[in-house]
Amino acid sequence: MKMNILARRSLLLLASSAAFGAAVAAPAAPLVMGFSQVGAESEWRSANTASIKAAAKQDGVTLKFADAQQKQENQVKAIRSFIAQKVDVIAFSPVVESGWDTVLREAKAAKIPVILTDRAVNVSDPSLFVSFIGSDFVEEGRKAGRWLLERAAKNPGADLNIVELQGTVGSAPALDRKKGFEEVIAGNPKLKISRSQSGDFTRAKGKEVMEAFLKAKDKKIDVLYAHNDDMAIGAIQAIEEAGLKPGKDILIISIDGVKGAFEAMLAGKLNVTVECNPLLGPQLMQLAREVVAGKTVAKRITTLEGVFPAEVAAKELPNRRY
Ligand code: AHR
Repeated sequence: MKMNILARRSLLLLASSAAFGAAVAAPAAPLVMGFSQVGAESEWRSANTASIKAAAKQDGVTLKFADAQQKQENQVKAIRSFIAQKVDVIAFSPVVESGWDTVLREAKAAKIPVILTDRAVNVSDPSLFVSFIGSDFVEEGRKAGRWLLERAAKNPGADLNIVELQGTVGSAPALDRKKGFEEVIAGNPKLKISRSQSGDFTRAKGKEVMEAFLKAKDKKIDVLYAHNDDMAIGAIQAIEEAGLKPGKDILIISIDGVKGAFEAMLAGKLNVTVECNPLLGPQLMQLAREVVAGKTVAKRITTLEGVFPAEVAAKELPNRRY
């Protein structure tokens, strides 16, 4: 019977440990992670889900994945079910910031560590989660604002009327991206947000709300600031249907940096996208292993991200991984 080198080596090892009476270690049980995802509301979210599933597979992590369909109550149910199943670690991307204290206390009482990914929570006791891994949403809003400040500086006399499509009400990215953008544009009194409404991070809602903004006709809209690319893409459709040219008649700024945004920039319909990296899977698996092994980990791990104006879209598109 033919045997390869590795098989022969392990046989020798087994024989020698038996000869010396040493115990042969059983293979370690795979780590079990319960993951509660926000939903499938955007291109970004699909890329995030794919990254987490692929990384778990690659890393030998048993993933119990639950899609909350953008509802906090579904996330709470999923977390409770992970606790009942006694998973090793719970990770989740909270749909909204508040309302997590009770369920996270239950996880803590069950001694199951919780890692937040992508979105943060607002809890009274920070020990209710071990770590957060994701973007700095306030900084993303600032980057969007800085792009507009620079653009406005080319035509200093003009007042610019801005409309804003916010993300899901009460979510960390909606609150923070608004805050960061407003903080920066406050530096130029010619820049004013006249209307601001939630488009729930989806294309359909982004289109619907933009249609309403356009119908109001009280003021010419100069700039659209959308908290994600999907809402911007929905709004682009609304703008075209209203007989206007997106990217020209109305400047469009959005966040995420998904392929759909790069295609819109190449078509001249979007002016800039601020990157928000969804590929958190590999880092999350590594972090989970460290946490379960009892290592001390950083409370906050922030991803590095860039800004992509339309001028660089053609060069950058082949490098995009989501
Ligand atoms: O939390 C990240 C945000 O959620 C992304 O910007 C958006 O596209 C998603 O739905």
